[in-house]
Amino acid sequence: MEAAHSTPAWVLLAYLVSGVCFILALRGLSSPESSRRGNRLGIIGMTIAVVTTLWTHLPGAFAKKTGQICNQMYTATGAGEPVCRDLTYPPAFVIDWQTFGLILGSIVIGAVIGLVTARRIQMTAMPQLVAAFHSLVGMAAVLVGAAAFLNPDAFGILGSDGILQVSRVEMGLGVAIGAITFSGSVIAFLKLNGNMSGKPILLPARHVINLGTLVAILGLIAYFTQDQAPWVFFTVMALSFAIGFLLIVPIGGADMPVVISMLNSYSGWAAAAMGFTLHNSAMIITGALVGSSGAILSYIMCRAMNRSFISVIAGGFGGDSAAAGGGEVIDRPYKRGSAEDAAFLMSQADQVIIVPGYGMAVSQAQHALREMADLLKEHGVRVKYAIHPVAGRMPGHMNVLLAEANVPYDEVFELEDINSEFAQTDVAFVIGANDVTNPAAKTDKSSPIYGMPVLDVEKARTVLFVKRSMGGVGYAGVDNELFYRDNTMMLLADAKKMVEEIVKNIG
Ligand code: TAP
Repeated sequence: MEAAHSTPAWVLLAYLVSGVCFILALRGLSSPESSRRGNRLGIIGMTIAVVTTLWTHLPGAFAKKTGQICNQMYTATGAGEPVCRDLTYPPAFVIDWQTFGLILGSIVIGAVIGLVTARRIQMTAMPQLVAAFHSLVGMAAVLVGAAAFLNPDAFGILGSDGILQVSRVEMGLGVAIGAITFSGSVIAFLKLNGNMSGKPILLPARHVINLGTLVAILGLIAYFTQDQAPWVFFTVMALSFAIGFLLIVPIGGADMPVVISMLNSYSGWAAAAMGFTLHNSAMIITGALVGSSGAILSYIMCRAMNRSFISVIAGGFGGDSAAAGGGEVIDRPYKRGSAEDAAFLMSQADQVIIVPGYGMAVSQAQHALREMADLLKEHGVRVKYAIHPVAGRMPGHMNVLLAEANVPYDEVFELEDINSEFAQTDVAFVIGANDVTNPAAKTDKSSPIYGMPVLDVEKARTVLFVKRSMGGVGYAGVDNELFYRDNTMMLLADAKKMVEEIVKNIG
């Protein structure tokens, strides 16, 4: 089958270059050291893709404004013989100057909103921002799909017997994934932003309902290839909006990181499917990159939290476990220390491992922490940082904050690289981290975090915990029995204030 229009070689080359930029960007983002370069490459790739796309659609940019569309699947004249017809270049592919102005205006408005949001957003609100952005990608896919369905000629996907069959599959899948991404991301946003309870909302027979709805969506997409009646298309859309809602509502707050990266992956696949409908290879490449990298990240997160990937996709995952807030706090004796005690213990140590968590992010203690580490190093102490893959509230949260405070990268270690070192460490300095150190994950089968790999801080000679009060629990809503151990000293204060006090006492 010949395409409805042929894309000039330079355009394909430009899209290829932007695709390479995106791959290098992802590679750069894999380490804090190269992440700025990665970001820059991503910006360059996106600029090339946007400028190329706009340029090719300008009036007169294409020499050839007519094309031929051939459809081998609907042969009116007999098997195997393609039916072809000439067509004027689809209007959607050649825009007038007024439309061009509208597009430019929209880009400027979007860029300003993005810029202001990026500058204003608190690091702690990043997960909900990401969820909000994913919802926009999902909605964009739905709108493009709907536009293509309502005006297929404009998109060059009209064959002799209605919308090309292959395009119906692309549109069906794109709209379904886009709608799931949209409603799922909206629920994730509401939960993370505190507008909706972070607790799992369990519908009776949810697995049967979810599975039935998914089967119905796939069945209708298959039927859509035979019958392009509007009710089929719009039922696929409506059911997909519903399933996105149904899949995310039962998921508890503690399991949200996986959901976010899963929705990230969905938004990529939705964009890739729409890339086919729009005949835009840059969108296909970018969508596939986002889709696969999101899926890989989901897998890594699942492993870090000891969750099964299949149960995440099936929905209802984490639904039986506890979620944010409201855990029972054990009323037991504990040892309370001061900044002076902490300064003394750490400056006498050979090695101190710092374990940052969500509380460090809340109090923005990273700069003071770096100052404390510098002072300790001056006293001959070896200082390392241990990062749990789900510490904080988003992937890489701690790495970003430590990088912001210019903590040397070679002092920062992942869980699997440092866990064995706690046993030979004098002081584990846990600052605003709770769940990621909780040994209940290893021993208590009834705990919502059971099975999650945790940092073995209790093996250090002394464990210092910085948190504001004994009443506060971590994200999973459970108390940490380490607070009451003999080798633990609680430093109860805001993380930044406590570290600043310790700095004064070391100095
Ligand atoms: P958490 O278990 O949430 O513990 C945070 C601790 O910080 C609490 O003990 C809290 O106690 C303390 N804290 C809060 N504000 C503080 C402040 N200003 N100064 C000092 N301490 C403060 O954090 P974590 O150990 O980093 O674990 C992360 C949890 O979040 C995991 O359950 C994970 O599954 C979940 N989660 C992770 C992500 C990603 S992708 N990283 C996303 C969503 C959820 P006080 O209130 O008493 O101060």
